[in-house]
Amino acid sequence: MVERKPIIVGNWKMHKTISETRTTLSALRAAVQDVDSVDIGVAPPFTSLSAAAEVLLGSNIALAAQNMHCRDTGAFTGEVSPPMLLDAGVTHVILGHSERRELFGETDDLIATKVEAALAHRMVPILCVGETQGQREANETVSVVTGQLSGALRQLRGADLESLVVAYEPIWAIGTGLTATPGQAQQVHEIIRDFIGDLLGRAVAERLRIQYGGSVKPDNAAELLTQPDIDGALVGGASLEAESLAAIVRAC
Ligand code: 13P
Repeated sequence: MVERKPIIVGNWKMHKTISETRTTLSALRAAVQDVDSVDIGVAPPFTSLSAAAEVLLGSNIALAAQNMHCRDTGAFTGEVSPPMLLDAGVTHVILGHSERRELFGETDDLIATKVEAALAHRMVPILCVGETQGQREANETVSVVTGQLSGALRQLRGADLESLVVAYEPIWAIGTGLTATPGQAQQVHEIIRDFIGDLLGRAVAERLRIQYGGSVKPDNAAELLTQPDIDGALVGGASLEAESLAAIVRAC
């Protein structure tokens, strides 16, 4: 059995000014400074990245971006490139979040180019997959999730994927207070690991960290995180307060 270090990342989405970022991250830094058994990350909005990097310098909290373009430079109004993010102190990047897919039309093909770019720049891609309520009710969860995985990872070989993180985020559980039960989440995580094993080899699958996301809170984190194939959490609402994100890290 491969030991997988848990990874907890807060996705702030479109929340917090620069000064709010400083305040929250100073508190988080103090609250988790003694933790070394969990990888911790925070994804503030682009405007707060530089300030966040200053506050987090020398800490055990990694800086993540919420999105990224695949090219290094060019005429892409409104976009932010991998070298720009690296320059700002970013090491991890959330890609293919359901809000990007649903609200901004991101396709598996587009997400594949971003995953490749992240790996090429030695950033940790956090690839999000997950089904809607309707797809779950139509028994399409497995085909949707495996389709998203093969679409986004189509060009990649096992050796490239050392750092890849997958986040399973059932869309019906995001921001709704409805959490997948530990059993429901574990079932999909196991399917994801088996599928990655078929696609990229058993060794990659055994090392792959799979986060659960969708209404993770301090009071439900422990039971989710004790499932054998749940290796961390991608936390939205509950990551906005330093204390509640720290409590989720401690639950790990
Ligand atoms: P909530 O934790 O607010 O449900 O959001 C989950 C999410 O989308 C994290 O990326």
